[in-house]
Amino acid sequence: MDKLKITGGVPLRGQVRISGAKNSALAAMAASLLSSEELFLENVPMVNDILTTRRLLKELGADVEFEGRSSARLKVSRIASHEAPYELVKTMRASVLVLGPLLARTGKARVSLPGGCAIGARPIDLHIKGLEKLGATIRTEYGYVEATARRLKGANVAFDKITVGGTENLMMAAALAEGQTTLMNSALEPEITDLAELLNKMGARVTGAGTSTITIEGVEALHGASHSIIPDRIETGTFIAAGAMTDSDLELTACNPGHLTSVIAKMREAGANIEELSGNLRVRGGRSLRSTDVSTHEYPGFATDMQAQYMALMTQASGIALITENIFENRFMHASELIRMGANIRVDGSRAVVAGKSRLTGARVIASDLRASASLVLAGLVAEGETIIDRIYHLDRGYERIEDKLRSVGAQIERLK
Ligand code: EPZ
Repeated sequence: MDKLKITGGVPLRGQVRISGAKNSALAAMAASLLSSEELFLENVPMVNDILTTRRLLKELGADVEFEGRSSARLKVSRIASHEAPYELVKTMRASVLVLGPLLARTGKARVSLPGGCAIGARPIDLHIKGLEKLGATIRTEYGYVEATARRLKGANVAFDKITVGGTENLMMAAALAEGQTTLMNSALEPEITDLAELLNKMGARVTGAGTSTITIEGVEALHGASHSIIPDRIETGTFIAAGAMTDSDLELTACNPGHLTSVIAKMREAGANIEELSGNLRVRGGRSLRSTDVSTHEYPGFATDMQAQYMALMTQASGIALITENIFENRFMHASELIRMGANIRVDGSRAVVAGKSRLTGARVIASDLRASASLVLAGLVAEGETIIDRIYHLDRGYERIEDKLRSVGAQIERLK
């Protein structure tokens, strides 16, 4: 298993190009199942979750070709299988995003139930409830969700709780349903708006994405389209934290600061020096940071996917910071590894108290999930001596060439095979 070795305390200087958003690209790839014509996607990050999605789509009958560094051509002339098998779903929960599209296109889908994961129980009951509202008959047995429908029928769906994946699955299913669907209490994340844009390019009639009420006027068929995926806001936030924590001067290009309003505001409140330069971001470190409380919320609130990285940042701030995690019930696994590096953190349920500023020292640590891994990389960049991060396959699922990007701005980081 690969590991990362980081020698901390090195200033970072230069430009980092932000990749396309993993979570947007995953939904866009699932949308290819809605049409028999070709989808051409640009700015796709070449991370392991994208490769897993390619495997899954191929099993379902898709032709998927990657071109150059970040483009993908996907064509699903005919659906060859209706099943997302356990082996793939267990490695990547986003596989459940094929449920809505398969059902809408062919009236049939069989998708393994994902089960819990390192950050929480993460049920998909709201996806199922929504699809049932659209007329699907759904049984869950033998560990699988089995859905059938003649043709889905538009309906009003009010989500009991805001769900990103649920909103995406329902939007895709409703695109081919008969009549109008209204989704209420929808997720507002930029990835939702990106998917709506793609669906509309394919001939769907989606309005209201980016607000809590999304209306979808179903159509008979969707056609091919070209689309460029939005920049990855979480990768951007991770590099902002890297710049703010170390004595650095970083320029982040190809990003969209407008998708990071809460994160940038919070980091500025903590004393980070972040400037917007015609769509790019410049982050300069070396300033003293102040401990600042944060609570995670759905977009446009502070993203749960930035909580672990923010915790690493707070280890370098003076004072006491209270971090409240409101989205997932078990998303503090990184705290115990940060403590092993010298951080002063106490976790109590959904709250963590970080007392700073701590002198971090390199240690052998284990990554428990994607964003936890990112927080350990950040801690490694400021720690004295050598940090070895184990189980970085989590990192490889969602960060494109992170060690190359960090090395290009001066970090001492290498992959141990
Ligand atoms: C998406 O997951 C992202 N993944 C996650 O990113 C992100 O953390 C999360 O949204 C929240 O922003 C992708 O887009 C592929 P949810 P998703 O449905 O869609 C509960 C990362 O690091 N819930 O919005 O699975 C759920 O348990 C990842 O890149 C139900 O109870 O998240 C959670 O508490 C990790 N029933 C809350 O809602 C349901 O049917 C929000 O989950 C669905 C969700």
